[in-house]
Amino acid sequence: MKFFIDTANVDEIRTAASWGVLDGVTTNPSLIAKEKRDYKETVREICKITPGPVSAEVLATDYEGIVREAREWASVAGNVVVKVPLTPDGIKAVKTLSGEEIKTNVTLIFSVTQAVLAAKAGATFVSPFVGRIDDIGGDGMYLVEEILNAYANYGYETEVIVASVRNVRHVIESLEMGADIATIPFNVLKQLFNHPLTDIGIERFLSDYRKAMGG
Ligand code: E4P
Repeated sequence: MKFFIDTANVDEIRTAASWGVLDGVTTNPSLIAKEKRDYKETVREICKITPGPVSAEVLATDYEGIVREAREWASVAGNVVVKVPLTPDGIKAVKTLSGEEIKTNVTLIFSVTQAVLAAKAGATFVSPFVGRIDDIGGDGMYLVEEILNAYANYGYETEVIVASVRNVRHVIESLEMGADIATIPFNVLKQLFNHPLTDIGIERFLSDYRKAMGG
C-alpha cells in the first residue's frame, strides 16, 4: 500500500520524505488555509520535495471553472493531481480531463455509487473520507470495502485513497482490505513507528551491552 501524507505543511512533508517511505501528498483548501501561504507557491514547493503524486484541489464548482483551474494546476508541475469534488459538474470535468491525460482525484466520496461514477468518468484516484463517516456514527472502512469490491467486480483501474484517516486502526484496516493508498496526517504517520516493546528492547540491548562492557 502506498503512504501519502495529508498535509500542506512543507516541514512535515520534508520529514516524512526523509524517512524514505513517502509515496505522495494530498492537500485541500482547509489544509492550505492553515499554512497561510499562497496556494500555488506551496504546491510548487511540495512538488519539488516529492516526485510522487501531489493532489491540489480546485476551488471552482462549475464545469468550465473546474476544467480551467485543472489545466492551470496541471501546468504547475508534472506530478500535480487535480482534486475535484464529486458533483455532476465535477464528474463531467473529470471526463474531459481524463481525455486530456490530466490526472484527477475525486474527493468527498461518501458512497459506493459516487466512487463508481468517478471511475466511469476516468478518475485516476477516488478519496472516500472514512473519518468523517465515523464522526457521524457510520462505518467509514465498510465504504472502502464496498468500493474495492465494486472496482474488482468490474475491473476499474481507479486507485482508492483512504482519506480522512484519524488513527492507526484506519491504516491497519486499509492494509487488510488491500486499499491502494492511505493518505495519513503527520501525527498518525509518526504513530506507525511506535511500539512499546521496540523501546523496551532498545533500552535492554543497550543496558545489557553497557553492563557487560562496563560502558
Ligand atoms: C483527503 O484528501 C482530505 O484532504 C482529508 O483526508 C480530509 O480529512 P479530514 O476529514 O480530516 O478533514
